[in-house]
Amino acid sequence: MCGIVGILGKSSVSTNLVDALRRLEYRGYDSAGIATIEGPGIERRRAEGKLRNLEKRLIAEPLGGRTGIGHTRWATHGRPTERNAHPHMTAKVSVVHNGIIENFRELRADLEAKGHKFETDTDTEAVVHLITEELDQGAKPVAAVRSALQQLRGAFALGIIFAGEDDLMIAARKGSPLAIGHGSGEMYLGSDAIALAPFTDAITYLEEGDWAVLRRSGAEIFNIDGVPVERPLVKAVASALLIDKGNYRHFMAKEIHEQPEVISHTLANYLDMTQARVRFPDLGIDLSKLTRVTISACGTAYYAGLVAKYWIERYARVPVEIDVASEMRYREAPLPENGLAVFVSQSGETADTLATLRYAKANGQRIASVVNVRTSTIARESHTALPTLAGPEIGVASTKAFTCQLSVLACLAIAIGRARGTISAEQETALVNALMEVPRHVASILRSDEAFVAVAHELSKADDVLYLGRGSSFPIALEGALKLKEISYIHAEGYAAGELKHGPIALIDENVPVVVVAPEDELFEKTVSNLQEVAARGGQVILISDASPEKTGCKLAAHIQMPKVDSFVAPMLYAVPTQLIAYQTAVLMGTDVDQPRNLAKSVTVE
Ligand code: G6P
Repeated sequence: MCGIVGILGKSSVSTNLVDALRRLEYRGYDSAGIATIEGPGIERRRAEGKLRNLEKRLIAEPLGGRTGIGHTRWATHGRPTERNAHPHMTAKVSVVHNGIIENFRELRADLEAKGHKFETDTDTEAVVHLITEELDQGAKPVAAVRSALQQLRGAFALGIIFAGEDDLMIAARKGSPLAIGHGSGEMYLGSDAIALAPFTDAITYLEEGDWAVLRRSGAEIFNIDGVPVERPLVKAVASALLIDKGNYRHFMAKEIHEQPEVISHTLANYLDMTQARVRFPDLGIDLSKLTRVTISACGTAYYAGLVAKYWIERYARVPVEIDVASEMRYREAPLPENGLAVFVSQSGETADTLATLRYAKANGQRIASVVNVRTSTIARESHTALPTLAGPEIGVASTKAFTCQLSVLACLAIAIGRARGTISAEQETALVNALMEVPRHVASILRSDEAFVAVAHELSKADDVLYLGRGSSFPIALEGALKLKEISYIHAEGYAAGELKHGPIALIDENVPVVVVAPEDELFEKTVSNLQEVAARGGQVILISDASPEKTGCKLAAHIQMPKVDSFVAPMLYAVPTQLIAYQTAVLMGTDVDQPRNLAKSVTVE
């Protein structure tokens, strides 16, 4: 989480540092700061809250240095106050950090014993004093950092500048991503290429354990053992660099409305549209002999994986094990021979998902990852990366990435089913045709905005909202509830409709809206019984269905009419109304839709 930037520029860098930080706000936004080299010393400005507070501070007290680092924070150790905001510094060195230094307590105790005075509650400050201690002992900056890095445990990315050193910046990567940008006579550092987009598209990604010495003339990179290494210089993809809200009020709205297009792009990557066939990359494993598919992910991506479990078990008849990555990484789950492990991640950097991937790889699984960032660590550590073509997703609440993940996973289910002979050629054609129609149907759902505003009015009055669904609609109920609570702060829970009477029904009264996700499939009748149980207790039912409201036999508070589609693709469509309901509710509540409190887009800590 947390975003890092660094610039070795030709003139004052403070405006450009803030510009780059704005592009990194998706990583955290509870405080921000920059530090620059000013003559023989270092100066910094920091501010609690959003980046605009830092901008105001800089107008009042500008910085002129040509060498600087910046940070936007998502607090792990220490409250999000100005005192705890990065950069952290002593008179000799200043550091920005993303990740967690696990042994900071030991380091701090040791350094305090040597007379270092700590000012903050952060783990980062231990790094600052550790380097300072090395400098105090007479080490030159590069040697000081090399020695300090050897003493740090944990996952981190660091950007470091030194008092009086106008042409030097050191970067280090262990577990958290870091990119170096090459300009002409200027060098950049960033948590990702998007941050550096206004300045350069010539990027070198540091690899695990790498650290780099940057000067205006270029970068020298060393691996974990201190051996100089060459890392490729790549051109960042232009589409990844284009980010603005267009005519939309929020990134989330823009991203919801981009879905017809990005789902099309993603499907086109995995389908032969003319033959109505799946055209899936070779996963390097004989799919006909698969013993198990193991899926792991976090948050919204986990719910995409949960839909895939329904699809793969039903259509390809392979057992699927799925768990959230934070659990699976420590469960020591036995994994079978001929097993495929699938990881789903928008950012491709989620720490728990990455750790689970490494566990599965070490346990002999073939690794495929569904990722939105092709250059991400998860993509690079997989045997096969299966990109979603959603484009950059800026809103913290994931929307288009989710439906694109579903697009890839649907194609995967068909590919496995075909290989195993559980799906005939005719069925494949029918399923692919159904997929190809999804973008058009999503576009039609997006045209009925007013219906969602009306539902939002109902939900905005509630303290608790339940979401129900059965079968592959169950994960959509979970995702719908997650979306609502993430951005409107209204408490919401998703349940399997059949579980209603095992507990949640006790919550139902006229003040609890219940959103029911119920396509008219073979489970519809069962869900209708649950819906009647809710209505009988005065619950306000909001039905999302292609069935006519009369079929429910009860009074509905609202009905979102959905198009008729093959039940296979229903989750891809039914996700969209849940996104719009959450979005409109958050707008009504006046919350910060794109940057809801306490959340971050990319979670690179455990
Ligand atoms: C965070 C985000 C969620 C996201 C989850 C997993 O919690 O707020 O929107 O679903 O991380 O992220 P990933 O990048 O792995 O999909």
